Amino acid sequence: MSWIGGKKALRELIVSVFPLYYERYIEVFGGGGWVLFHKPPGNDFEVYNDFNGLLTNLYRCVRERPDELIEALHFVLNSREDFDIVKDALARDSIESDVIKAAYFYQLIRYSYASGLTSFGSQPHDMWSNFPLIEQAHRRLSKVVIENKDFEKLIRQYDRPVSFFYLDPPYYETEKYYKNVGEGGFQEKDHIRLKDTLMNIEGKFLLSYNDCDFIREIYDAPNIQIESFTRINNIKQRYDNGAQFPEILVANYDMQERKENNPSQINLFEIENGL
Ligand SMILES: C[S@@+](CC[C@H](N)C(=O)[O-])C[C@H]1O[C@@H](n2cnc3c(N)ncnc32)[C@H](O)[C@@H]1O
Repeated sequence: MSWIGGKKALRELIVSVFPLYYERYIEVFGGGGWVLFHKPPGNDFEVYNDFNGLLTNLYRCVRERPDELIEALHFVLNSREDFDIVKDALARDSIESDVIKAAYFYQLIRYSYASGLTSFGSQPHDMWSNFPLIEQAHRRLSKVVIENKDFEKLIRQYDRPVSFFYLDPPYYETEKYYKNVGEGGFQEKDHIRLKDTLMNIEGKFLLSYNDCDFIREIYDAPNIQIESFTRINNIKQRYDNGAQFPEILVANYDMQERKENNPSQINLFEIENGL
């Protein structure tokens, strides 16, 4: 499902530069889960994490109670009035049932403008068309561990030499789009805290970011690779049609190792503008 900062357009590229070998896959800033759902399930141990508790509750209900969730979504209305009721109930945290909370949050995502969760989208949407997707996601998540932790705790908990972390934090200076998460949202000190945590891990990491001096400077270190690419910017595009958005991938391993092992694979450096 769509989510602010979702990696729908980049999922192919991101999976193509995963390391060749790892035993634990940990998606630290899971969001809409575009990368996890694109990644083929294997024998690796997989973890989905997000600090947004409404989102992780939704995924837990998809994994554990998909029939009840679908049942709760059967007769919801795509109306501004219902949207406001659901939004207020979630803001007041007045819902006791996890399944109803998950159904309300799903409605908010599906019926809000650009999945921004704040204003009613006024767009036709067939809720029933989502039911097969919920069933597919239920099967894909069956062996995935779902966590609701701040990134630092999570990384420390799952770090091993055989761990591979994919991280898609709120981009630098777009943090305000995630202000509902945690007090004060994601701040400059959190970007630095993330860098400090990653620089000390035993495992491998791959990090997505917007291309800016601040991020390049803090990751300017030996054994760290930074590769850049450009795509149409979803956030800016809402206001400035066709805005280009330079992005980077940062890793503590050789991002070419998969390609070198399989030369016919998608090439990081030939993908420009068309994603
Ligand atoms: C750019 S989005 C991830 C998008 C995701 N890759 C996708 O394809 O949908 C960033 C996510 O980080 C989460 N987040 C914000 N602060 C966090 C923190 N301190 N620890 C873990 N997750 C956090 C937000 O809730 C948001 O879902």
